[in-house]
Amino acid sequence: MSTWIGIDTGGTLTKLAYLNEHQELTLTVFPSNEMHLVKEWLEKHPQVEEIGLTGGRTEQLRDVLKTMKSIEYIVEFEATLKGVRYLLEKEGHAINQSIITNIGTGTSIHYMDGNTHKRVGGTGVGGGTLIGLSTIMTGISDFDVIKTHAFQGDREGIDLLVKDIYQGMDTPIDGNLTASNFGKVGITEKRKFMQNDVLATTQGLIGEVISTLSIQLAEQHHTENIVYIGSTLIDNDQLIKVIEHYTILKKHKPVFLKDCGFSGAIGALLNIREHNKI
Ligand SMILES: Nc1ncnc2c1ncn2[C@@H]1O[C@H](COP(=O)(O)OP(=O)(O)OP(=O)(O)O)[C@@H](O)[C@H]1O
Ligand SMILES: [Mg+2]
Repeated sequence: MSTWIGIDTGGTLTKLAYLNEHQELTLTVFPSNEMHLVKEWLEKHPQVEEIGLTGGRTEQLRDVLKTMKSIEYIVEFEATLKGVRYLLEKEGHAINQSIITNIGTGTSIHYMDGNTHKRVGGTGVGGGTLIGLSTIMTGISDFDVIKTHAFQGDREGIDLLVKDIYQGMDTPIDGNLTASNFGKVGITEKRKFMQNDVLATTQGLIGEVISTLSIQLAEQHHTENIVYIGSTLIDNDQLIKVIEHYTILKKHKPVFLKDCGFSGAIGALLNIREHNKI
């Protein structure tokens, strides 16, 4: 039986979404700097007839695949939003209006209203920042190892909280808020830090920058919901907690999707299905 596949080739990861022989949605991932693996995967799946392709590395992947298969290109943001709508419904969220924050290598932020959407912002702080800073500061570059350490770490000795500044006084805002990420280091004598704590604090910085920006954009667009997606969130309990906590504190509703890394690939797959009118 012939079939289709959706591929989202991003700055760091290339995600594949396809229906297996039992017509179940199957998801798989390869590093984007090893694109030959995608070619090899396709050679082992000759039943794939057409590829829905999206993501910033599309041209590079086209070069690797040559004219192996028929390719239907879809702009990344279109694909992502199609995938998000599909996953929201599949995972039981009745959300029609929302900010969508995609924490990929960098972070891209969109506003979705029904079937329309627009890009409303972004930041270079994202999953690539996590890997980059972690590598430079601790020598650990493996995403799974970073997550495990960060989960066990503590931010208290490195981040400066509002209450640390306003000692013995009433604080003008919640004293437990971060006044300065990593800010305690510059005003104390301590010079040796545990790897776990450094990694937890790094994820704290990234999560707080991204959620702060997302909340401001949600306020500008008068929406309560913020759907956070991107592979940086995959099984990343500490980062999710940072984002969830701050978003709720600011009276917005954070939504996390189980298949958070695959919106683009799923959207590219759905796009071919729509074109083939299935
Ligand atoms: N297996 C993995 N290997 C490396 N990084 C991973 C892995 N799984 C998750 N990550 C994290 O996810 C991030 C990439 O997320 P994602 O796949 O959503 O981005 P991308 O699509 O490659 O990039 P962009 O959309 O910005 O072009 C990495 O920077 C890293 O923090
Ligand atoms: Mg991406």
